[in-house]
Amino acid sequence: KNIPHIQEHLVHWYMKNQRQLPWRETHDPYHVWVSEVMLQQTQVKTVLPYYEKFLRHFPDITSLAQADLQAVLKLWEGLGYYARARNFHRAANVVVKEYNSKIPDDPGEFQKLPGVGDYIASAVQSIAFGHPCAAADGNVKRVLARLFQIDAPVNKSASHKLFKSTADKLLASDMPGTFNQAIMELGAMICKPKHPMCDICPLPSFCLAHQARKTDEYPRRTPG
Ligand code: ADE
Repeated sequence: KNIPHIQEHLVHWYMKNQRQLPWRETHDPYHVWVSEVMLQQTQVKTVLPYYEKFLRHFPDITSLAQADLQAVLKLWEGLGYYARARNFHRAANVVVKEYNSKIPDDPGEFQKLPGVGDYIASAVQSIAFGHPCAAADGNVKRVLARLFQIDAPVNKSASHKLFKSTADKLLASDMPGTFNQAIMELGAMICKPKHPMCDICPLPSFCLAHQARKTDEYPRRTPG
């Protein structure tokens, strides 16, 4: 139905309006992985200096694997969610020992690594290797909830499958990395939680919540 049009408008908007971010200058799977681990629970502007510093200290997967966990945690200080850093360090060791220091170019293999869940796997595998996996984080789920008036509560884990399958249907599988970053960017810059900027959105004519003047009712949440 409308899916190719939505893809075209969204990607076109992204090409013109994306922020220049250091992890968008590269397809290096290690660099992309570092960025996505940091970005999963932390805002872009907080991540930027940590990302640069982390890559200066640990420029590749082998240097991260060889580092002391304490040194990794020290660099992570201030970012929070330290389990991310512990898991990433463990995962780097698995990649070095079991994958000959090459990050798996395969979503299923990659997702076996410590700390690599559905979101990280999809983001890294689509951006670095071009695998057609939709990455559905909180920003993306909010965009989808509004675009298709999805009533499933975003804060219930049982809803994840519905959002993920919706994201997979919308994914432009010829450019999955660009598409994933485009929909994330729309969520971050335009389709914001409190005051979505529908007047400059590329998708208002497709957006069911906007058409119904109900953007403030989506995404739905379960109380408590
Ligand atoms: N949040 C999660 N992944 C991101 C990315 N690649 N660019 C910007 N924000 C993000």
